[in-house]
Amino acid sequence: MEASKKAVVYIMPQKIQKQRYKDMMKAALKHKFIVAEIFKSNVTHVVTEYETVAQVLKVLKIAALPQHTNLLKVNWFIDSVKARGPVQIQDKHRIPQGDEQVDHKDLPESASLPTPIPEYACQRSTPLKHYNAKFCEALELLQDYAEMREADDDYMRALAWRRASCVLKSLKFPLTSVAQLKGAKDIGKHVEQVLQSILDHGTSDEVEKVRNNPWYQKMKILTKVFGAGTKTAQEWIDKGWSSVAEVKENQTKGDWRLRFGLAFHEDLMELVTRLEADNFTKFIKHQSENLLSGVSVELCGGFKRGKTKGHDIDLLFTHPSKGKESGFLLRLLSVLESKNLILCGKWNKSTYTEEVMYSDSKRTRNNQLDHFEKWIGIIKFPKKWQREISEEELFGEEGENVSLTSESYDESEPAMKKFKSEELSPRDIAAQTRSWIARRVDLIMVPYDQYFYALVGWTGSKQFNRDIRTYAKRTHNYAMTSHGLYDLKERKALPAKSEKEIFDILGVPYFPPEERNC
Ligand code: UTP
Ligand code: MN
Repeated sequence: MEASKKAVVYIMPQKIQKQRYKDMMKAALKHKFIVAEIFKSNVTHVVTEYETVAQVLKVLKIAALPQHTNLLKVNWFIDSVKARGPVQIQDKHRIPQGDEQVDHKDLPESASLPTPIPEYACQRSTPLKHYNAKFCEALELLQDYAEMREADDDYMRALAWRRASCVLKSLKFPLTSVAQLKGAKDIGKHVEQVLQSILDHGTSDEVEKVRNNPWYQKMKILTKVFGAGTKTAQEWIDKGWSSVAEVKENQTKGDWRLRFGLAFHEDLMELVTRLEADNFTKFIKHQSENLLSGVSVELCGGFKRGKTKGHDIDLLFTHPSKGKESGFLLRLLSVLESKNLILCGKWNKSTYTEEVMYSDSKRTRNNQLDHFEKWIGIIKFPKKWQREISEEELFGEEGENVSLTSESYDESEPAMKKFKSEELSPRDIAAQTRSWIARRVDLIMVPYDQYFYALVGWTGSKQFNRDIRTYAKRTHNYAMTSHGLYDLKERKALPAKSEKEIFDILGVPYFPPEERNC
């Protein structure tokens, strides 16, 4: 199909071999393309061998392309020559622009490190949208791979890739040369190699080798199942299964997480939207206030950091009067159960003692695990929660069987009993015609005197927590967890009445949640 007759094409000569460039220009003239000799604002189609928008902008010495200008690979030009005129642009023709890439009209003029880059990610602003998505995707793929391998050193290796990625995420310009990272502590030789290769060729062999590694691909798919960690995924691979469908067909045993995780995998793979999360939070706030006046409910996790989609919903509860929170979560679960909104889940009482403040600080792996009273499970989200609905409709949400009371919650497996008596397997439930979608939800109850530490912890990101905790330990000899900050030398806790106060105690500049996306 022919695109607009007014197409003005500019072929970037850089990176195209001289003779080939001449041939391309000849072909263009022969087919009566309008060809611009230099880049001007009336150009509608820029054709290039560069692989990133950033590189093109740098060479053209502009901050952004005009709205009407399309940035295209040479394959568009070849297709057009074959068609004897500019063809309609397809996805395969476009230079990919990562999701997390910022709008290039916001590009600053200069592109170098203003001052030495702070050592810890918690000392830097890390926005959700940044300039270096392509590099970060590659580095985090290597992180992912190291994390899965779980051999000696792999844990540290994984963290090293991630730290490097975090440096790039905090840059206020697209990387165009590794020299721009001079002095950044987390950028080692190996990282430089990967970055240089992406700068030169658009890709890195090392990264692509991992991306195409069949074991990595299988692990990547199988660890996405709720309840399956690397160990379980590896067991499945050892049995010769490489897709979730195969596991579903053959897997017979597994705890409740796995059984429901497999049965509702498709639901759970569909990301939760901001609107759904907001509707659910509003609904829970309303139900909570009915049960306990003054209770606070806060949507944390990725949504708090400004993400528009997430894999689950994390809600943090507290009450400013000490002791009021006791028993609340079970009463709330009971209400949800009575409204037939719980698919499955597990409640755990608090396992916090003052000693854990100290002992947890010695853990390096798994240091995100905390000791709060919490419920982890899957909620049946009515499909109408996916759109904007009135409070009346939202609060009026009622399920069919309103007979269960808090008695259905013993301390072992609340919200599970029902299914034992109904004798419906998770798979049967999933196969039913239903007006709801399964959503992963975490409900965490926090005593008020630990609240702001819990808020920082559950806001994340995970890497932000790792970093601020390492920073606290190394610079102050403080142990930091979601329960508090503990001065290991003076052997005393350091309470805080706001997030800001925590940052102040640590001597770290305060960054709002939106800037903790490291
Ligand atoms: P999530 O795993 O939900 O991550 O943990 P996320 O950032 O919200 O990502 P999406 O959007 O769901 O995919 C939320 C925060 O809670 C902390 C994590 O470290 C993260 O910062 N967390 C999670 C804990 O502190 N303890 C836990 O047991 C689980
Ligand atoms: Mn989350």
